[in-house]
Amino acid sequence: MTVTIITIDGPSGSGKGTLAAKLAQHYQFHLLDSGALYRLLGLALSQQNLLDDLDDLHRLQQSASIAQNLNICFLSDDATTKTRVLLNDIEVTEQIRTEQVGEYASRVAAIPVLREALYKRQRDFAQAPGLIADGRDMATTIFPEAQVKIFLTASAQSRAERRVKQLRDMGMDVNICTILANIQARDERDTQRSVAPLKAAEDAYVIDSSNLGIEAVFQQMVQYIDRHIAK
Ligand code: DC
Repeated sequence: MTVTIITIDGPSGSGKGTLAAKLAQHYQFHLLDSGALYRLLGLALSQQNLLDDLDDLHRLQQSASIAQNLNICFLSDDATTKTRVLLNDIEVTEQIRTEQVGEYASRVAAIPVLREALYKRQRDFAQAPGLIADGRDMATTIFPEAQVKIFLTASAQSRAERRVKQLRDMGMDVNICTILANIQARDERDTQRSVAPLKAAEDAYVIDSSNLGIEAVFQQMVQYIDRHIAK
């Protein structure tokens, strides 16, 4: 049985996460939140004080081994489309969404050996009937064979505004200028890195969500996907 793979790539704050979860529910497909894997790895390495010494070969090997053996679990709730995330059996759902862990993830994601260590784990998510894969390099590197490739983008300013709202809703006290600067720094690192940089695949359908609400983007995606997948 062929597994239908739909990739949604784009920068953080473009609405990818929410849309990928909605699409997975709509099509009853599995969901891969690859950013969460990088966040979990960043958190795991910081807990073991390995993040600042990744130039050291021994520590890098140790970190790659941690990446391959990460003890993680995604628990999805069909009713809410929310997913709980566990690292070593401890719930870290909210912790991995903090700015600090986002920063750890971005550092980890720039290291080729660590990206490779997460490659197979990501491929393993492709199971029948299908997968919605959310990330930066889903279409270009992890699932180049995907039947549908979507690249979702938005201006840095609108992404910062959404991020501030999301963090305030989680009870965090945040400042828009700091968040905007963080987003710009992360964009720079994600687009400039030598391995699997953030960019649209040549055959991707590009959507700019700067002036569109989630529902409008969702409808646009469903129309595009329905035209491109065999039913
Ligand atoms: O999507 P996110 O904000 O949760 O991703 C966290 C970091 O991980 C971000 O800086 C980019 C990186 N990442 C990546 O390099 N490749 C992916 N497929 C997913 C995320």
